[in-house]
Amino acid sequence: MGLLDHDGALGCEGDFSDMENAIDMGAGTGREEVRIMTLQSHILAEQGEHAQAGGTFSWILSALSISAKIISDKVRRARLENVLGSVGAENVQGEVQQKLDVLANDVLMKTLGGREGVAIVASEENEEPIILRSDTRGVPRYCVLFDPLDGSSNLDVCGGVGTIFSILAYDGRATRAQDSLLQPGARQIAAGYVLYGSSTIFVLTLGNGVDLFVLDPGIGAFMRVERHLRIPAGNKTYSVNEGNRRSFPEGYRRFLDWAQENGYSSRYAGAMVADVHRILLKGGVFLYPPTQKAPQGKLRLMYEANPMAMIIEQAGGKTVAGPGRRILDIEPTAIHQRTPVILGAADQVDAVLAHL
Ligand code: AHG
Ligand code: MN
Ligand code: MN
Repeated sequence: MGLLDHDGALGCEGDFSDMENAIDMGAGTGREEVRIMTLQSHILAEQGEHAQAGGTFSWILSALSISAKIISDKVRRARLENVLGSVGAENVQGEVQQKLDVLANDVLMKTLGGREGVAIVASEENEEPIILRSDTRGVPRYCVLFDPLDGSSNLDVCGGVGTIFSILAYDGRATRAQDSLLQPGARQIAAGYVLYGSSTIFVLTLGNGVDLFVLDPGIGAFMRVERHLRIPAGNKTYSVNEGNRRSFPEGYRRFLDWAQENGYSSRYAGAMVADVHRILLKGGVFLYPPTQKAPQGKLRLMYEANPMAMIIEQAGGKTVAGPGRRILDIEPTAIHQRTPVILGAADQVDAVLAHL
């Protein structure tokens, strides 16, 4: 199959006929064998193991990988090419749109739009989902939802930003095509994020653990560096915008008092991807509670909370909207709806819940 051809055209992912290259780096020297696994090789290997991860689906992941490389390049050149700052408009969320929000959105729309398996794309930046194909005959189709550039207000100060995505199966039986999008997060087939930080990181789950890839800028390929990530327990760190503390519900304020009396540290990047990535690797808890200004919190269920919840749960962590409210079980009623978020290592999420 031709997954290779498209990525290859961008000079990217190497030879797909070679699913995994085991290279003996030190024949006769006693040094360990080194395995090289690109994201594309990984996807093809997974495709071999999972019936649902067929070729059509792999093409979609390939489009996300290419988008990530293009957006990464744009983010890194933004100051030089004068594409920092706002476009002078607000998106459907009533938030200021950065020029790069628009650029990243266009990149994803174009790359995903060309994939036969994509039925609907829905973006945080677009008021309405875009229905590309609604015919399900012959080929399985999927809905791809994304936050093209998360934490975009960090761009002007060279802070970490990211892309978040969620993939659902398209249900051709829905009366209105967009109703196919309103599925609880537990039904996601895949989710991931890209962090444009000091390096470009691609984190992916296909529902069987979480794998981590790093973009090798020399060869233009995402290289797998970790398999089956597990969030460590016991890290006394919380990540929350404490500037909002006075408008948090009382239980959250009680948790913060308790944490400060019990030796917790605070870390907050102001970009969910950057904050969640730290928690995935180091443990701790991330919170975006309800506030007076945003009674349902600020984060969006379909583009931010659900994909991150799938990743966190797949890494052994926990994600809730409040006591007894698992994020992945929320039945969505609107594509842009918001939800409070508490996520991270299970022990740290439980420590928050004990105060609510
Ligand atoms: P976006 O840039 O996609 O609108 O998302 C910003 C979000 C999220 O990345 C972050 O966790 C949160 O906003 C930060 O909000 P505060 O500035 O209110 O802390
Ligand atoms: Mn966001
Ligand atoms: Mn965004």
